[in-house]
Amino acid sequence: MKSVEQHRSDIVEIGRRVYRLGYVAAYDGNISIRLEDGNILCTPTAISKGYMSEGDLVIVNGEGKMVSGARKVSSEIAMHLLIYKLRPDVLAIVHAHPPCATGYAAAGMPLNKALVAEVVMTFGCIPLAPYGTTGTAELTEAIRPFVPSYDGILLANHGVVTYGSDVYQAHAKMETVEHFARISLTTRILGKEVLLTSDDVSKLLVAREKYGIKAPVKLSDTCPTVQPEPVEGTITLTKEELVDIIQAALECLRHEKH
Ligand code: 13P
Repeated sequence: MKSVEQHRSDIVEIGRRVYRLGYVAAYDGNISIRLEDGNILCTPTAISKGYMSEGDLVIVNGEGKMVSGARKVSSEIAMHLLIYKLRPDVLAIVHAHPPCATGYAAAGMPLNKALVAEVVMTFGCIPLAPYGTTGTAELTEAIRPFVPSYDGILLANHGVVTYGSDVYQAHAKMETVEHFARISLTTRILGKEVLLTSDDVSKLLVAREKYGIKAPVKLSDTCPTVQPEPVEGTITLTKEELVDIIQAALECLRHEKH
């Protein structure tokens, strides 16, 4: 079991990591840990996550009332408290604005395609919560439906929140979300996305056990979006394959004429 001092230095370390990775700018983001006694150790509002020291952090109770600390708690504390309330398994939360994933959130696009095996195993998918003003009940209400079923959520026109059994896990999930956003963007630039099938996804969900992944995943038609089942009697071709077939047929006709 870690001491409160150790948890303080873990938050400072994760702050440095999210800052170094460019997941936050200026005073963006907030990080918290649920302590043994149920109180929450959290970053204060309006501080660079790259330059915090242990003494900057504050402790609030389960209702968000100050227990200790010289600074004012993060304006997003209500979002953290809601996640801790709905998910007894969650012991730490990271909120950041990583550019690519936040780009998806600003484009109104969830990261819900079955494109990368590891991401399907970890998250199932990363849904998009509707827009809610930062630091208000609008934001907490927007994420409420998603919290019980997913470990990472895109916040429309805002950023990303991830959580887990410790602050390193929560941060690792933030890295996976941003990495996946970049991969997803690459497939869009390349103009081609080959989705996994529903059979592939079922196998990956079974494989989660092997990797000790216990986080909940709620599957639906759109989480994750998989390759459509081929309809009997029809075939699916890419544009390139269709062009190749037509060109080959035209070539044959040309030869027959000569
Ligand atoms: P705080 O500085 O109040 O934690 O808010 C930062 C932020 O990222 C809001 O979305």
